[in-house]
Amino acid sequence: MADQGVRVEGNELAEGRSGGGSPTAHPEGERYFVRFTPMQRWMHVVMFSTFLGLAATGLTIRFSTNAWAQHFALTLGGFGAILFIHKFCAVILTLEFLYHIGNIAYRIVVKGQKGLLWGPDSMVPNLKDLQDIIGNFRWFLGLGSKPHFERYAYWEKFDYWAVFWGMIIIGFSGYVMWFGPFFGRFLPGWALNAVQIVHGEEAVLAATFIFSIHFINGHLRPDNFPMDTTIFTGIQSEEEFKERHADEYRRLVAEGRLEEKLTCRSERSLLKVSRVIGFTVVAAGIVLLILSVSAYIRQ
Ligand code: HEM
Repeated sequence: MADQGVRVEGNELAEGRSGGGSPTAHPEGERYFVRFTPMQRWMHVVMFSTFLGLAATGLTIRFSTNAWAQHFALTLGGFGAILFIHKFCAVILTLEFLYHIGNIAYRIVVKGQKGLLWGPDSMVPNLKDLQDIIGNFRWFLGLGSKPHFERYAYWEKFDYWAVFWGMIIIGFSGYVMWFGPFFGRFLPGWALNAVQIVHGEEAVLAATFIFSIHFINGHLRPDNFPMDTTIFTGIQSEEEFKERHADEYRRLVAEGRLEEKLTCRSERSLLKVSRVIGFTVVAAGIVLLILSVSAYIRQ
């Protein structure tokens, strides 16, 4: 079924073969499913770099009495510099978040892309996600077969919506702290104290979730280890796509749209850069996780 109606462009093949790089991860002549657009990949780059910057600086402020936090702050020029980087990353992440919401609203309202709200390509949770959660847990316990997923599995949707929750709670409380005198005109004094606790606790929770569950799902679980590079390169092998998103695969074949989503460009040079960046970010996240969880327990 995989081979039916799949077109292989000569020039794409040539491009795929021209790069250097790992001989095993992206073998020559293989076809790739284009899962993410360049814009989606850039959005992820901005999001993970600003989140890492926010977590590293925020946790340094939060655990400032620890030796590692003081060393880190001194290396970057002191706590003033740490706070500056925190606010800088916060502004960039907020702009990206607002751009994303504006873009989604524009596509739904102006361009009429109702598929963003419901249907197989939507990020909105549906009944199938509930069935997949139950099915996956049955599979974990050896009580059934592994469910077949559509474009986004339920845990990917969870990660997506977690950003909205985080931006509302962490972002709002952060701006209240930043512009305390302004918000003090509307909020009672105790609320200004409460936002610091809310911000700090929710930030520890968010960082712990991303640097453990998200990293395990994305990079460290056995079938992804050592790293899933799809979000960096935008592509995954046709075989991998067929296995991980079997329902989407079948749907595209049935609609006769699979071939328009396949390419022979292996993005080999990008793969190398992705691995270096990915390993660095995962390693930094795990170090931060260990340092902040141990500081949290000791406090
Ligand atoms: C729009 C997003 C954000 C804004 C505007 C923001 C702003 C701030 C501000 C103004 C402070 C107070 C610093 C001080 O003077 O003591 C702060 C502290 C902090 N931030 Fe953020 N922040 C944001 C996102 C994040 C994120 C995503 C994380 C981590 C994942 C984070 C972690 C922290 C932590 C742990 C503290 C220390 C809280 C404490 O003192 O207990 N922040 N943030």
